[in-house]
Amino acid sequence: MTGRRPPEPGGMPGPDDTFAEEGVALIRERCEVVPRAVIVLGSGLGDAVGPDVAACHQFSFHTLPGFPPPTVPGHAGRLALGTLYGVPVAVFFGRIHYYEGRGIAATTLIPRLAAGLGAGVLILTNAAGGLDPTLRPGQLMLIRDHLNLMGVNPLFGWRLPDGTPAFVDLSAVYDPGLLEVAARSASERDVDAATGVYAAMSGPTYETPAEIAFLAKAGAHAVGMSTVPEAVGGVAVGLSVLAVSCITNVAGAEATHEDVIRTAREAAGDLKAILMGVLAELSAPDDSSDADRPGHSGPEVTGGGSGL
Ligand code: HPA
Repeated sequence: MTGRRPPEPGGMPGPDDTFAEEGVALIRERCEVVPRAVIVLGSGLGDAVGPDVAACHQFSFHTLPGFPPPTVPGHAGRLALGTLYGVPVAVFFGRIHYYEGRGIAATTLIPRLAAGLGAGVLILTNAAGGLDPTLRPGQLMLIRDHLNLMGVNPLFGWRLPDGTPAFVDLSAVYDPGLLEVAARSASERDVDAATGVYAAMSGPTYETPAEIAFLAKAGAHAVGMSTVPEAVGGVAVGLSVLAVSCITNVAGAEATHEDVIRTAREAAGDLKAILMGVLAELSAPDDSSDADRPGHSGPEVTGGGSGL
């Protein structure tokens, strides 16, 4: 394993490492699944669809190139490839956070792997603190846009194959068609899901009262420490992105990590309901033009709870 990218004549933009290519090669030695969707299950959300994945192979994160070694023994993240409700998927139970100190390029490894494995859709989930007073702990929020306040751009140092910096358009990071499908899936299944703006902080600290006031004034409805690097990386490598926050606490009110995990677990059923609807749509026969399919630009978001 070199971890260093040799010059290449063509291909996708990326940072100066070869971890994604090495990871894809390693996965391909053991498993032939070409995922339609890659799903990242955040803190406490593994139960949402985890038990329903018919896995052909699983990998502990630390066996994948570029992934950090486990910090808590026995609590390593894992990747499962297989099928979920009839759809070929790769499911990441856990993720790489920027606050782990591996550099920002590590936080885009999951979308780079997703693209390398042939996926078209990236579904991100996270635990987040609610800033908007109408959001209640346990509620889900479909992310329609974000504020990147991590202090670094996830594509920092990325180059296109010709050496140009990756000047990626972020005017629609969260795919409007997928957002509509998720909102419809929520309302059809009586899940009270809001739609709003997610602010990403680097962490690992929670926010000060002044930061919370600032974030709310700046237009954020929820705050967390993940997802944005993966979403931006996903757009850069051509994936259609859907992201869902589970509001685990009121931002700024005292909450332990254990409280966050417990509330996320309680919301896992609602997340499962939404994901079932989204995957059903992805598995539907493709009898329309590409422009009408989820994963491509579609109509304005409607229904599915409150638009914040
Ligand atoms: N702030 C930042 N990240 C979080 C929070 C929060 O309140 N809750 C869960 N992840």
